[in-house]
Amino acid sequence: MKENVKATNITWHEAEITKTDRERLNGHKAVTLWFTGLSGSGKSTLAHAVENALFEMQCRTYVLDGDNIRHGLNKDLGFSPEDREENIRRIGEVAHLFTQAGVITLTAFISPYQADRDKARQIAEEGTFFEIYVKCDLDICEERDPKGLYKKARAGQIPEFTGVSAPYEEPAKPELTVDTGKQTLEECAEAVLAVLRERGVIAG
Ligand code: ADX
Repeated sequence: MKENVKATNITWHEAEITKTDRERLNGHKAVTLWFTGLSGSGKSTLAHAVENALFEMQCRTYVLDGDNIRHGLNKDLGFSPEDREENIRRIGEVAHLFTQAGVITLTAFISPYQADRDKARQIAEEGTFFEIYVKCDLDICEERDPKGLYKKARAGQIPEFTGVSAPYEEPAKPELTVDTGKQTLEECAEAVLAVLRERGVIAG
């Protein structure tokens, strides 16, 4: 079972309805689609485009989005390396719960550290975690600057801003890379759906 658990005298209770039961009910497999990339790379946009397409196919889906989760569950966390690690640890656990519940779970977090993404993968059941690198050149992200944050970061108003004053580690072995600077949103979404069909998550 889990390491570093603070509580003692706790007992794991196995559910009677299994993930496989839920998948049978839903008519599709449940997996985590872990989108990672710079701010402004298009993670949320792509995750929602994929979700829309899956929803049309009657799949059960949910998007966990960095900016949203930081308003609630993770509102006690900032952007230091330690806080980002804890951010991703919690999301890894939440994504695992959603996936166990039979949902195709899409996460959109910068998740800049490979080690943290690897830990999220380790929580997941073998073969149910898809790391999707939403690649985009920094200068394009900066040109887009949808929230005006790069401008602020360059002006020294946001410390530890990813790509400017904090690192982003490119995925070493992602299941898929899309480049939103070179491909259209439709092409990127189709590439994700193709992986899901290939892996038998959704029907071909
Ligand atoms: S992560 O690095 O811990 O994975 P997360 O995806 O939750 O980050 O949040 C990133 C979002 O927070 C960005 O899209 C941006 O809107 C906002 N943000 C605010 N400050 C920073 C910062 N210092 N670095 C990166 N993103 C920031």
